[in-house]
Amino acid sequence: MNQAVSGFSKLSKEEKIQWIAQTYFNTPAEAEKILKQYWNQDAKLQQLHDEFIENTLTNFYLPMGIAPNFNINGRYYSVPMVIEESSVVAAAAKAAKFWSTRGGFKTSIIGTEKIGQVHFLFQGSIEKLQPFFDKIKPQFFEATEPITRNMNKRGGGILDIELRDKTSELANYFQLHATFDTKDSMGANFINSCLEQFAKTLREVAATEESFTPDEQNITVVMSILSNYVPNCVVRAEVSCPVEDLAEKKIDEPQAFAEKFVQAVKIAEIETFRAVTHNKGIMNGIDAVVLATGNDFRAVEAGVHAYAARNGKYSSLSHAKIENGIFTFWMDVPLALGTVGGLTSLHPLVKVALEILGKPSAQELMQVVAATGLAQNFAALRSLTTTGIQEGHMKMHLNNILNQFQATAEERKIVLTHFADQTVTHASVVEMIENLRR
Ligand code: MEV
Repeated sequence: MNQAVSGFSKLSKEEKIQWIAQTYFNTPAEAEKILKQYWNQDAKLQQLHDEFIENTLTNFYLPMGIAPNFNINGRYYSVPMVIEESSVVAAAAKAAKFWSTRGGFKTSIIGTEKIGQVHFLFQGSIEKLQPFFDKIKPQFFEATEPITRNMNKRGGGILDIELRDKTSELANYFQLHATFDTKDSMGANFINSCLEQFAKTLREVAATEESFTPDEQNITVVMSILSNYVPNCVVRAEVSCPVEDLAEKKIDEPQAFAEKFVQAVKIAEIETFRAVTHNKGIMNGIDAVVLATGNDFRAVEAGVHAYAARNGKYSSLSHAKIENGIFTFWMDVPLALGTVGGLTSLHPLVKVALEILGKPSAQELMQVVAATGLAQNFAALRSLTTTGIQEGHMKMHLNNILNQFQATAEERKIVLTHFADQTVTHASVVEMIENLRR
């Protein structure tokens, strides 16, 4: 059990599975069977998935669902969502439908600038470094020309490179802080390739700079990497309508509803414990579309939460107000997304998801993702400030419990009928199933 293994990566997939099954399971044959159960019958498709990562044993399924009726800037979208949590897709779909008859989602791109940095140590002052940087700046663009040629043709490329003095925070630490437009690609490879070339140029040119002392000539490049914090790659999503139009089956007092809703948002603006959960609800929507469209949800998560704390305190991403009888709910969110390159051209389901969205540009995808996040937040706050979250959640959860107990069709019918007008708790459902089976 508690043993190291060497050469694991060199084993075949079959051998890896056997090693895992025999090392960690009392019934290796059973473990092996489960792992292999998820292999795709189509060997080529399986190989494609095997090669996405390393040491692959099998596939880990997540459901892919659809939230239809998203009216975004007057156009209807069916939004593909990949997520394991029950209620999320239903909530998005419900909020989308609600807003589709109240003007829909209005979205706009605030910026699309990506960022990358070369972090380096220089044994001298900014007074020496700045003129050197200004002199050699064109060389950074020239040296990266082979990398940027195609991106330039698509209208993107390197926007600017700045020298930043960070020595007040860390001795000898300076940065090349570069900004990029990567058009429809997320741009990680492009940015990192440019940065590594900047670093090489910087070191090489500094090494022969006559105005530098030998110590100054010897620049240490610590690392060159894009930043997933993209405060200038931001999209805005908004919904608004006259307060009285908020009325529907479960909102019989729209003014009171709107006021409580705004209060709930204000709480998330000032209270970090609430803000984190509030934003988590937004990420339920954002991550699900980001995953479905083959984008990097860890990058998005990291960037979004840094943005939520950009004023020095973690706060709500969304905001709400009532002004002159109009309820407005909106959010600005940083999203570095791609619709070309990476997984978008490799994963067959990602291609399907993008096709469902009408083959969007990266900017259009940013708007769909932001609208889905806002819809999710609206749905959560609406439940929280009216019926409470558990009513809808546990109804969905009921199905999961029935699956967990492998309930028969007849058991399902009895349990679902019983809980149609009863509060669902995990214990009460389990008790009922056990009673039925007694
Ligand atoms: C659950 O996944 C998300 C919520 O907790 C979000 C929220 O509280 O706003 C319902």
